[in-house]
Amino acid sequence: MHRLVNKRILLGVTGGIAAYKAADLVRRLQDVGAQVRVVMTQGACEFITPLTMQALSGHPVHTTLLDPTAEAAMGHIELARWADLVLIAPASANFMARLAHGHGNDLLATLCLATGAPIAIAPAMNQQMWADTSTQKNLLILQEKGIKVFGPGSGSQACGEVGSGRMLEPLEIIQHAAEVFDYQLLTGKHVVITAGPTREAIDPVRYITNKSSGKMGFALAEAAAEAGARVTLIAGPVNLPTPSRVDRVDVSRAVDMFEACMKTVEEGCDVFIATAAVADYRPTVTADHKIKKSTEEIHLTLVKNPDIVASVAEHNKRPFTVGFAAETRDVVAYAQAKLVNKKLDMIATNDVSGSNVGFNSDNNALTVIWPGGHKVLPLASKAQIAKQLIELIAIRYKD
Ligand code: PMT
Repeated sequence: MHRLVNKRILLGVTGGIAAYKAADLVRRLQDVGAQVRVVMTQGACEFITPLTMQALSGHPVHTTLLDPTAEAAMGHIELARWADLVLIAPASANFMARLAHGHGNDLLATLCLATGAPIAIAPAMNQQMWADTSTQKNLLILQEKGIKVFGPGSGSQACGEVGSGRMLEPLEIIQHAAEVFDYQLLTGKHVVITAGPTREAIDPVRYITNKSSGKMGFALAEAAAEAGARVTLIAGPVNLPTPSRVDRVDVSRAVDMFEACMKTVEEGCDVFIATAAVADYRPTVTADHKIKKSTEEIHLTLVKNPDIVASVAEHNKRPFTVGFAAETRDVVAYAQAKLVNKKLDMIATNDVSGSNVGFNSDNNALTVIWPGGHKVLPLASKAQIAKQLIELIAIRYKD
């Protein structure tokens, strides 16, 4: 059920006795890592209180379209954009009819019109209502619109009748909801990304570092999360906000980054992308106090840092391992050598001799190399380059 980790589920609850099961559904969706927000129709509020759903989901429940306080918190358009999936459970016959005919006469119906996310319904109603020709016609219209229909199941009903129209059990609904995300490139995969520079302390106020801003690694983290992956971003000292749905671990020194990476690889991950500009060397000793300006010359002795990406590639739980290469000359030849020497599955190289790509720029251009092939990703924003690289990684990873 990894496919639902971090997924944003907008749960619409409509009026029907099965509304009580929506409470359990909220808990179970959260158990599999989904984020849940609840919208209830007036009919639903007759069966279960918004307070119950608020307590379970941990967020305010939205019930009316024209509620200034709710709009101030998260407006209906924002909610519609927020969702990765709009799941309506239970979906009454009345709601199915309104959805089929594009009504926007309450908050939930309006959200369905306004969202670009997939919509799924879990119908629940009396078996005669389900069998009724109007409901069946509406069902066809909904299916033609691409709306996913989970169930209904059949059996004995709350009204005492037996037949088709029972809402599926929460766990069955969750199973179907997970399948909605199957199309995503990295659904269910754990991707670990390093980003930014490292800082190697000389004394309490001075350090060795480089010009990496973290932009490339953060863009990759965002693209991987968009592709459905669970993402851990291990970041050196940078001044960037954490992309949504990304778990961030902040580190400073190369040895800290090494330890954080080894821990996540040990715990298990599928893809590792080393975007960080890790300092190759660190001062052999870090002075306890600020070094005084007493002599004409001072000499720093440096010792080699562990090579993080090479250690990941040698790990017995080795993920698909992607390195970066920042070069100022013979870009492809040096990158090819790093691909082989560090035993990588893929390397993305950038020419950092100019200022329009690579370090600290908003743009980049890469040559991506793997054993037996390569692809050039021409100059574009780091967000676009990241998307293209994630697509390439997903294809090569699955091969
Ligand atoms: O952060 P930005 O400002 O957006 O800039 C992006 C970038 C230029 C930093 C990025 O695109 C990039 O090229 N990252 C790699 C920089 C680098 O250190 O390259 P390298 O050729 O020195 O190292 C090769 C590979 O080994 C890299 O994947 C690096 O993360 C890894 N490495 C290096 C040394 C070390 N001790 N451990 C490592 O894992």
